[in-house]
Amino acid sequence: MNVATRRVCAAMPLPTGQRTAQRLVNLSLQQQRYQSTGIRRFKLNTGAEIPAIGFGTFHGEGDVAGAVAQNIKAGLRLVDTARVYHVEKEVGEGLKQSGFPREEIFLEGAENISQEMQAGKMIRGETHFVDTWKAMEKILKTGKTKALGISNFSKAELELLMKETNVVPAVHQMEVHPYLQQKDFNAWLRSKGIHVIQFSPLGNMNRFYRETGWSKDISHMMRVIDHPVLKDIGKKYGKSAVQVALAWVVNNGRSVIPMTTIDWMMRENAEADFGLSSEDMKAIGELDLKARFNDPSLDYQWQLYSDLDGIEGRQDGKTH
Ligand SMILES: NC(=O)c1ccc[n+]([C@@H]2O[C@H](COP(=O)([O-])OP(=O)(O)OC[C@H]3O[C@@H](n4cnc5c(N)ncnc54)[C@H](OP(=O)(O)O)[C@@H]3O)[C@@H](O)[C@H]2O)c1
Repeated sequence: MNVATRRVCAAMPLPTGQRTAQRLVNLSLQQQRYQSTGIRRFKLNTGAEIPAIGFGTFHGEGDVAGAVAQNIKAGLRLVDTARVYHVEKEVGEGLKQSGFPREEIFLEGAENISQEMQAGKMIRGETHFVDTWKAMEKILKTGKTKALGISNFSKAELELLMKETNVVPAVHQMEVHPYLQQKDFNAWLRSKGIHVIQFSPLGNMNRFYRETGWSKDISHMMRVIDHPVLKDIGKKYGKSAVQVALAWVVNNGRSVIPMTTIDWMMRENAEADFGLSSEDMKAIGELDLKARFNDPSLDYQWQLYSDLDGIEGRQDGKTH
């Protein structure tokens, strides 16, 4: 296996953790309608606007279509999905069920570009991510896709991508939460005009992380949402710790895609765009433990995130 082949496997969304290149389908954003949700939008390097808060669709089981429709009705207009979640049909149904026109929804779809699992082992593809990106640049020219993004790239990989190709990614979707703040990388991405979408914004909240070796053992630490600093800040604003964790994202100029199938939680997430004082932002900034929960490097036999925070502490032999 050559280096190029190994590089392309990179990472992908949660269930199997492969590298993805993301096709961002911006279905025409209508400013006035977004204003009615009370959630701010950020401008991408394409000129399009992306909502600050949306939702994820890695649900495992259950009524995915219903959850998509409910999230949209709750006010969330940014939908994150991925082919690897096997819910594309349900997401489409949910969009219809919501009753909202498609033009109002910013749909983010992730393609699994180069890997598959076979007999529990990762099979690496032969296509380098640079070549995949070049192919996606062609799709961009067709107009079917409005923006291209990436997920789970290391800084060096992204530098290579930007050196070898013409389109700077519009977004980078990656793990960020109060326990893994990736401050340097986030600042660098901002300097390059790449918008960050945080996945797993509630850190070790997803049950998956407490059941997999991807999280090394650290997922058993205090849940982010139980942290007294977040709770105390929340009390000042009449908000929950979850809402504080999400507001911290928005006030940092990033987007976020929490996942839930529960109505009241969706509404809570949709009401998490509020201002935080600089003192409170600073207090949350001090919670960084460089604790990365989504690290399938052992499964891949390839060190992901090699130049980023949060790669230490892996327990050999403890994969999912
Ligand atoms: N690109 C990638 O590699 C990648 C990797 C991971 C995830 N993702 C995307 O990011 C999305 C979110 O990631 P995630 O599911 O790992 O993390 P998450 O949103 O941080 O955590 C999900 C968990 O938080 C709970 N939750 C959500 N809102 C809540 C609220 N208001 N109050 C209390 N609990 C709440 C949910 O509870 P319930 O289960 O009870 O609803 C669920 O257990 C995924 O669905 C997926 O779309 C992408």
